[in-house]
Amino acid sequence: MAVTRVCFVCLGNICRSPTAEAIMEHRLQFEDLGVEVQVESAGTGDWHVGHPPDARARDEATRRGIAMGGVAQQFTVADFDRFDLILAMDSANLEALRRIAPTPEAAATIHLLREFDPLAGDDVDVPDPYFGGSRGFVEVFDMVDRSVTGLLDHIAAARADG
Ligand code: 4NP
Repeated sequence: MAVTRVCFVCLGNICRSPTAEAIMEHRLQFEDLGVEVQVESAGTGDWHVGHPPDARARDEATRRGIAMGGVAQQFTVADFDRFDLILAMDSANLEALRRIAPTPEAAATIHLLREFDPLAGDDVDVPDPYFGGSRGFVEVFDMVDRSVTGLLDHIAAARADG
């Protein structure tokens, strides 16, 4: 089975994108989805490179029985060769990725994660929870969870077509 390589991208790679990575890994591990997916996450910024996910994200993951680990890395131009689907957490991250995309084909692999959230409506961003309280992390987890369900359906459908 062909592997789909996915990278979630936010600003710092310590709150939203490690959350998406952990939720996706959890779903892949515990559900028989009929897809093979490799998952990573990265940040467009470099402030937190080498840091573990934010404690508030780790607490919410623990509360939900989801394993979350890893250390932050910065997304680089070379990474466009390493992934089939790049999911930006918000419009600013989307623009930052588009600016460094080396080819139109590379740019075409970038999407907003909430394109796959059935409840998104006009609200395309996963809001940055870094400067808020723990409630923001609960909302991020719920939003990302819905989006990951839609994303997995999309990957399965693309697989069936291809
Ligand atoms: P993330 O959240 O992009 O979801 O990882 C942030 C983490 C750190 C900062 C901003 C957002 N920061 O400004 O340091």
